[in-house]
Amino acid sequence: MHQDQHPWIDPGDPAQHATTLAAEFTRVYGREPAGVWFAPGRANLNGEHIDFHGGRCLPTALAHGTYVAAAPRDDAVLRLRTLDEQLDDGVAVVPSPLSGADADHPRLAQDAPAWTRYVSGVLWALDQLAPEHPEFEVDAGYGADLLISSTLPIGGGLSSSAALECAAVLAFIATGTPFGAEHPEHRLTGALDDCRRALLAAACMRAEVEVVGAGTGGLDQTVSLRGSRDHLLSLDCRDFTVRALNIAPLLRDHVLLAVDTGQAHWLGDGQFGDRRADAEAAAALLTAQPLRTLLPADPTADDVDAVLTAFDQQLKADAAGSELVRSRGVAACRRRLRHAMTEMLRSEQLLAALERLPADPIEAASSIGEILTQGHLSMREDAEVSFDEADDVVDVALQGDALGARLIGGGFGGSVLALLRAGDVDDITAALLRKQPKLRFVNVVPSEPARAL
Ligand code: GLA
Repeated sequence: MHQDQHPWIDPGDPAQHATTLAAEFTRVYGREPAGVWFAPGRANLNGEHIDFHGGRCLPTALAHGTYVAAAPRDDAVLRLRTLDEQLDDGVAVVPSPLSGADADHPRLAQDAPAWTRYVSGVLWALDQLAPEHPEFEVDAGYGADLLISSTLPIGGGLSSSAALECAAVLAFIATGTPFGAEHPEHRLTGALDDCRRALLAAACMRAEVEVVGAGTGGLDQTVSLRGSRDHLLSLDCRDFTVRALNIAPLLRDHVLLAVDTGQAHWLGDGQFGDRRADAEAAAALLTAQPLRTLLPADPTADDVDAVLTAFDQQLKADAAGSELVRSRGVAACRRRLRHAMTEMLRSEQLLAALERLPADPIEAASSIGEILTQGHLSMREDAEVSFDEADDVVDVALQGDALGARLIGGGFGGSVLALLRAGDVDDITAALLRKQPKLRFVNVVPSEPARAL
């Protein structure tokens, strides 16, 4: 969606976006769409780089997200266009991933723009659910025309990729499966219960890992499909169970501000995978599968220290796995391990602070802020995924008396999340813009998950 240069990115009115996108669809494809579907981006308060280690994440769905208008075709062809200014290159025509000879492997066009793989990957992963869930079997010969627009900064660390996947999966279900035929239009949203949404989140994650080749851990897809208005999710990535926590008491006097640094990142570029591989090498040395099993349910700082001591001892003992750690770099693997452990500890501390919110919002807000800032230090020093612009945003926000601030998402670009007193927002955003005039701001409003519009 075209954004003017106003620093605040307006999520706009979803119904209005849907009408505009449907009209544009008719102009581009010469026929009307069957509907418009939306999926939100996310902000994660804590739990970065630990979803794939079975940690706890505390994300919320945004009001900002991605819209997909679609109409089915019967010639096994996908015609795809995004209206994002940086990516729009007209209509890309690709074969349906289901049209190849090998049903277990998606058919992909080698020359198609990279972003189209998120979409065709999702269609393939949806159909892969069919043996156990025939209601999601994609109709024979199914193809579709899609027009996509987003109110999220692309590559801005607010999960624009997952929002695209999750909006696309709803469009495909609605226009190409028995489940969609049985639950037309708005009825689809309610018919997708939490259990089915968990299944779809897993399918979208599979598309991103197996088709796009980016090592996502499922955090983004889960909150986009299963988040809820006014709530954060406490997401246990050992089994992807979720609990919704009301944060309305926090947002009465405070603002959660996402600051897009304008430095785009892409998970498939290798750096993200390297960080994950370092931590996995440490996990192999400690024979921990996943890393979360190294800490008790209610961990303390002593438990974290004990894990690091065990790591040092295993290395000295030259235990199995030490060669892998040595080849990746002992100090780097130890830092990744320390990030994972302290981040897991912070998630439990944050959960406790959120539970104290209704009784004492002021105290809880100050603890939440402190945890955010500690999280940033860990992203910078131990995960080593931060960058100058993000560090600078955190510093300026804290100088302006923010309660806390941290880099969120995968890092190497993307957004900082800051917790501010409502009365400080104007001063802090003005100070930030003085230092970095191209920053964009997103007001984090915990919102509804993916739905039909
Ligand atoms: C990306 C991935 C997620 C998660 C975060 C970091 O957003 O897609 O699965 O690993 O990075 O927490």
